[in-house]
Amino acid sequence: MRILVVGSGGREHALAQALAQSDSVSALFAAPGTPGTAQAATNVDLGATDIEGLVAFAQAEAIDLTLVGPEQPLVDGIVDRFAAAGLPIVGPTQDAARLEGSKAFANQFMARHDIPTASFRVFEAEAYAEASAYLDEVGAPVVVKADGLAAGKGAFVCDTLEAAHEALDQIVQDRAFGAAGDRVVIEEKMEGEEVSVLALTDGAHYVLLPPSQDHKPIGEGGTGPNTGGMGAFAPAPLVDGALLMEICRDIIEPTLQGMQEEGTPYRGVLYCGLMVTDDGPKVVEYNCRLGDPEAQAVLPLVDSDLAEIFRNVAEGDLQGRSVRTRPGAAACVVMASDGYPIEYDTGVEITGLEAAEALPHVSVLHAGTRRTDDARLVTDGGRVLGVVAQGGDLPEALDRAYEGVDRIHFAGNTYRRDIGEKGRAHLDAS
Ligand code: AMP
Ligand code: GLY
Repeated sequence: MRILVVGSGGREHALAQALAQSDSVSALFAAPGTPGTAQAATNVDLGATDIEGLVAFAQAEAIDLTLVGPEQPLVDGIVDRFAAAGLPIVGPTQDAARLEGSKAFANQFMARHDIPTASFRVFEAEAYAEASAYLDEVGAPVVVKADGLAAGKGAFVCDTLEAAHEALDQIVQDRAFGAAGDRVVIEEKMEGEEVSVLALTDGAHYVLLPPSQDHKPIGEGGTGPNTGGMGAFAPAPLVDGALLMEICRDIIEPTLQGMQEEGTPYRGVLYCGLMVTDDGPKVVEYNCRLGDPEAQAVLPLVDSDLAEIFRNVAEGDLQGRSVRTRPGAAACVVMASDGYPIEYDTGVEITGLEAAEALPHVSVLHAGTRRTDDARLVTDGGRVLGVVAQGGDLPEALDRAYEGVDRIHFAGNTYRRDIGEKGRAHLDAS
């Protein structure tokens, strides 16, 4: 199979690395890719949202299967466009991708199909006064979200009414997220622990990847502003067999069935961001793609031929298939630029990658890096690297990942020392 991976983050590097191990892959391209994907694939100078460029490339290179990392091209309709050109691709159509692209759509869909989530109300931006009055009525804590895509930054978990009004003002009056704030969703704050469950589905059947946990806030102990994700581990000890069955029965299956019933069958990766509450698992958000950094921890645990599974997804042929997983655990620690997620410099030289990768069971994934003209590696984003390690169990994977982190240097590098602690706590308690 000739495969094209679309995107340029740590997730896409993890995908390329996993696919490069597949016997069924004969050629691998990444668009635009990173210095990391260049180690496993041929980078192609096309942006992830250049849909027409990607179609033309896939046709010219006789690509057998395209995998899309980020949400924007999916929400923009890349799958519809590839399908119209007869090009196999993994992902939901534009209509189905609304599960991620519009939080109002997702919440209303869940209400229609009795899928557990927070109680909520949706307001058009013009109804600012009503939204504001509703905040006063429900009080804090409360969650205020921009409806559309906002690079993970459009959700505000507010512990005071004042913060909630500020969030509403930012979204609706300051238009901090542009058209993504044309509507606003106000939700009950759910309490519990978050897990990410990723299903690969052909619309009717699905297979699960190992459940994982992300660490969204920048600061240790879950403090400070939310980021794209500062680290992940899998499998999540919190999710035992009984909980996983509940998640399948109450969330994944009704979601797939609901999408079918509404005439927009969901095909591709269904990422369920869940809160495990005292009342059972509830949906925090759906995403229409692999998580980043969850993929970095989850994909190394997949023992089956990933390219074949994705082909089954694209061809609607997942019935009776399963995913074999490797024993043990994997962890990813993200190294970010100083000041991320707010303001940070780029172009800072990075050293020590070879020393980190010389460690057994450790690999370093590129999230925001670039090569200078004289071939030095420098930072080129907020999240710079993901240090991934596998181990016989979670503590071993974490120790190895941090050993790798300790060998990598760039000025101002920022990371959390407590990745995986919540997983360790569940292991200690069981
Ligand atoms: P979202 O952009 O919807 O994924 O939200 C980002 C983060 O905000 C989530 O990962 C949660 O940590 C938090 N969050 C969002 N909605 C809620 C909610 N209703 N209750 C509690 N936390 C939430
Ligand atoms: N790690 C969160 C996300 O991928 O949306």
